[in-house]
Amino acid sequence: MPGDGSRLMAYQNITVESRDAVAIVTINRAEKLNALDDRTVDELDAAFAAIGADVAIRGVILTGAGEKAFVAGADIAELSTQSPVDGKERSIRGQKVLARIEDLGKPVIAAVNGFALGGGCELAMACHVRIASENARLGTPEVKLGIMCGYGGTQRLPRLVGKGRALEMLLTGEMVDAPEALRIGLVNRVVPREKLLAEAEALLRKMIANGPVSLRFTIEAVNSGLELPLAEAQYLEATLFGLICTTGDMKEGTRAFLEKRPAKFTGK
Ligand code: COA
Repeated sequence: MPGDGSRLMAYQNITVESRDAVAIVTINRAEKLNALDDRTVDELDAAFAAIGADVAIRGVILTGAGEKAFVAGADIAELSTQSPVDGKERSIRGQKVLARIEDLGKPVIAAVNGFALGGGCELAMACHVRIASENARLGTPEVKLGIMCGYGGTQRLPRLVGKGRALEMLLTGEMVDAPEALRIGLVNRVVPREKLLAEAEALLRKMIANGPVSLRFTIEAVNSGLELPLAEAQYLEATLFGLICTTGDMKEGTRAFLEKRPAKFTGK
């Protein structure tokens, strides 16, 4: 199981399982289509903090319980009574939790098993890769509720699918089905529902077979670099490249190639 942090909070709305270096985090409020209420957001934060600190866990699959939804959004019952101050704080809190996932330093794959709407779409976009089942539908319907994205959706969606397509989704609030999500680059792959978790795990295991520091620095270079001018981003890449030359994994990975054997990475 993930490290100490996960034991500090008894989860009610999520489950966390781990096997052989992979953690599977499942949002488990199927009766509310896994809507993100404040407690669920807190539990996700605690779970990802624990997973981030646990060296035995090398990658994560994030999915939703039940057959209908990944996450159908922030909990509209909570949103309906919020003051401007509550709303701003809820938005900042959610953004921080999603940033924790995006900057976890270990690959996180969203297995999108149904509706991924509003905060659910934003959560999936904070993951490094999205695999959708054929029944998945993604969208940002906040405008239909008289609100707007508050968990980074106005920023991550245009970065993923381009400004024009993002604005079409953001301004209509209409959902896209799985083939359309694939076509516009909102998801990486579409697979039959029954194969979703197996495909996500197979892809994740290809990633975590590689050097853990390589994965961590690559995620950092992409996440931080995309926000910088190209020359500065390349300088960051060069600095991380220099740093990675100090690791045992660099020595092991290159030596293993020359000795024609599989590398044994330790993450050091
Ligand atoms: N927040 C709170 N509760 C939600 C929810 C949300 N985002 N999404 C669904 N639920 C609840 C419903 O209120 C319902 O609860 P009830 O059984 O106590 O009445 C239950 O989950 C099942 O949803 P229901 O609407 O009956 O399912 P459906 O199959 O008819 O419709 C959706 C599915 C996804 C189209 C519909 O639930 C929906 O539009 N949800 C809101 C999506 C949204 O606007 N998200 C952005 C929020 S910022």
